[in-house]
Amino acid sequence: MKAEHAPTIRRTEFMPLPWTVLRVDLHFSLHPEATVVTSRLACVRNRAVDAGALVLDGDELETLALTIDGCDPQPGTVRRSASRIELDIDGDEAELEIVTRINPRANSTLSGLYQSRGGYFTQCEAEGFRRITWFPDRPDVMARFTVTVEGERASCPVLLSNGNLVEEGELPDGRHYARWEDPFPKPCYLFALVAADLVVLERRELTASGREVLLQVWVEAGNLDRAGHAMDALVHAMRWDEETFGLELDLDRYMIVAVSDFNMGAMENKGLNIFNTKYVLAKPDTATDADYEHIESVVAHEYFHNWTGNRVTCRDWFQLTLKEGLTVFRDQQFSADMLAAAAGAEAAASARAVKRIDDVRVLRAAQFPEDAGPMAHPIRPDSYQEINNFYTATVYEKGAEVIRMLHTLLGPEGFRNGMDLYFSYHDGSAVTCDDFVEAMSEANGRDLDQFMLWYSQAGTPRVKAEGVWDGAAGSYLLTVSQYTPPTPGQAEKQALVIPLAIGLIGPDGEDRPLQLEGEAHPGGTTRVLELSSESRQWRFVGLDAEPVPSLLRGFSAPVILEVEEDDARLAFRMAHDADACNRWDAAQRYAERVLLALAAAAADGRAMAVPQGFVDAFARLLRDQRLDAAFRAQALSLPAEAYLLERMQPADPAALRAAQIHLGMTLGSMLADDLRALVEGLVEPAEYRYHPADAGRRALINLALRYLCAARDARGVALAAQRFAEAGNMTDRFGALAALVHGAVAEAEGALAAFYRRYRDDALVLDKWFALQAGMWRRDPAAPPTLARVRALLADAAFSLANPNKVYALLGSFFRANPAEFHLPDGSGYALWAEQVIALDAANPQVAARMARALENWRRFTPALQAAMRPQLERVRDAEGLSADVGEIIDKALAD
Ligand code: TRP
Ligand code: ZN
Repeated sequence: MKAEHAPTIRRTEFMPLPWTVLRVDLHFSLHPEATVVTSRLACVRNRAVDAGALVLDGDELETLALTIDGCDPQPGTVRRSASRIELDIDGDEAELEIVTRINPRANSTLSGLYQSRGGYFTQCEAEGFRRITWFPDRPDVMARFTVTVEGERASCPVLLSNGNLVEEGELPDGRHYARWEDPFPKPCYLFALVAADLVVLERRELTASGREVLLQVWVEAGNLDRAGHAMDALVHAMRWDEETFGLELDLDRYMIVAVSDFNMGAMENKGLNIFNTKYVLAKPDTATDADYEHIESVVAHEYFHNWTGNRVTCRDWFQLTLKEGLTVFRDQQFSADMLAAAAGAEAAASARAVKRIDDVRVLRAAQFPEDAGPMAHPIRPDSYQEINNFYTATVYEKGAEVIRMLHTLLGPEGFRNGMDLYFSYHDGSAVTCDDFVEAMSEANGRDLDQFMLWYSQAGTPRVKAEGVWDGAAGSYLLTVSQYTPPTPGQAEKQALVIPLAIGLIGPDGEDRPLQLEGEAHPGGTTRVLELSSESRQWRFVGLDAEPVPSLLRGFSAPVILEVEEDDARLAFRMAHDADACNRWDAAQRYAERVLLALAAAAADGRAMAVPQGFVDAFARLLRDQRLDAAFRAQALSLPAEAYLLERMQPADPAALRAAQIHLGMTLGSMLADDLRALVEGLVEPAEYRYHPADAGRRALINLALRYLCAARDARGVALAAQRFAEAGNMTDRFGALAALVHGAVAEAEGALAAFYRRYRDDALVLDKWFALQAGMWRRDPAAPPTLARVRALLADAAFSLANPNKVYALLGSFFRANPAEFHLPDGSGYALWAEQVIALDAANPQVAARMARALENWRRFTPALQAAMRPQLERVRDAEGLSADVGEIIDKALAD
């Protein structure tokens, strides 16, 4: 039984520290089980604070020595606990020397200094530096670092840290050292060290101002042929930030290092980014188009942090979205621009929409459920127990939506002016979200006080819209209102500023010019209305016929739009909406309506019937050759299961799965001729290249195969099997395999085995193999449950609970991406969940907490499932030695 709760940290309790650190000189003597870290800190009093002790944080440190200005501390001037040292020091300056001993080999948390495949790596965000040495571990302490790394030459020929290499040399006993100097002051969460056996891909580039910089991608030997795409992405990101925001690389050397064991995607350490191999390594035979796309965006994301995160950083961790929301927005814009540029002028708008649709899908599937559950928090949280639990879809994705709304409200130039002002005021400092929005406000002469509510209010706002047509006057009166449901700890909500992009479609399918009552001229066919009160009306005039409104174009705000549209109107917008994002959304809404009706029928044991109108609308999109393939692939993909469950009251995964199986079979069999023709008709270039047009064709073909296999169409299954056998790249090979497995056709098992044989030594490809099987649907009720397969795979030689990628692939996919098989009525899925969360927690609390979150929305499910979940939640809560990470998730889930 957990004895006590971890303390709650509150945003309003922020206090500046009485002492800060100007310079840090670190020396690492690396040994697998006994690394000795010597730290010299030049400390000064903070003039803004009256008085107080020098406070240092530590976590699991063995302290060998601590001196102040060369002397032992005076008796009575030191207060120590396991995690904190307070020193009373006379005067305004002090030099501390601290020696600690740590055990990288035993560090299974992957936070602090740890070992991976014989090398040493660090991860310090958010609070990992305190696991290396005693230090005031907060982002507002910004110091200049010099680092000496000393290690064994044979096992660690490469010794890296932040900044510039200033010295290196040999030492006795087969050891060597390297000394690094980072010219920029930084918080300790951006410190990094790598000592490993790696090889490098290098490129020299000139920055906009003509400075030569050295770019490096470090990988294990044998992976150099997979590093080129990441390097290209880095160069593209550099150019984009110069052109879009006038921001240049400020270092002479910029390094990316790939590591196999990593809790998250990647980390923006100053000049020494550390990446999960998943977001670096790609070649056509092992990586899919989606992998190529993710690598490009993560490389760019970390690169963009150099300005939005590193040069200007966060004052405290409550401000996390200051760097993450802004940097996600920047990487989204970058990816959209890259796709548009590759697609060419004609297809640019569609390419951008496809990217936007991807982002909206993620938001709806991951962030909306979070915002409706026990972990709901504003993008700038008010409290936390464990900061690692707040690297969330809300802070990242909704945070990016909030920045996007500023961009929409202020326009691209206004936004750029705000960014310029932000950097001119805050370069080199640790600031708050208010500082950012104030710079935007000042640069544009616009009051953004009400807009700040987006930073403090949790929950997804509902926007309701109703239109009334006045045929005699040729006018259309639109009434829009907003409402945000209560979230834990926030019962009352105020009206937000909501930018609502809208268009009015005429009966011929063409957009009408938008003219508001009182205006002399119409102003475009898409306009942004601003809803800033609970309810407001707009009257559009000069219309020749009753229009169909297209609201929230481009998904202009992170809200749920509630508008009454009958099937015919959804089909009309599916066919005609000029806004590609809304055209996709019309298809999603129609599919959602059909699926939820089928699920209700399944739950009541009634017969399921798919409305012909939906099949027809779907077929029209499928056949529309004018639409590019990537868009068609988006529009024909059904809404994510996680999103649909969120819309179901109560969530009934078995009924929803029955509905999905039925709809997939119906579409696949009714449209089999079209689908087969599409697979055979879309010609692919012989040589794989990562290009949006090619990727779009491959995506559409793979989707068509999926429907054909779902329908067990014999010729379609044969096509999938043939494409699997003959594929020249991973996108085609895995797409065909996934279609066979999804359809649970006879060919699936053989294909899975062949895939395993081909890639048995390739960890990243095997992650796909694990994830695919964890997501398997049961189409035959007599077949063994997927749970049995997951249990068998846990024992596979290629699986390891110590590797986060493996855990996310197998357990993450099963718990999150396969609701019907996870939420078995007998509760056996929940027993597996509890058992694995407890096992993981003993080694890696961050990863365990991520898995634990799979059950946080347990109260949304049917009473029978809730009753099966509760005891397993309680079992985890009561586990011996539970971490604060998992404890916070479970306590919040169980709270009334
Ligand atoms: N700052 C990283 C990013 O770019 C996130 C991150 C990487 C992280 N590793 C982490 C956060 C470990 C917490 C713990 O988004
Ligand atoms: Zn980030």
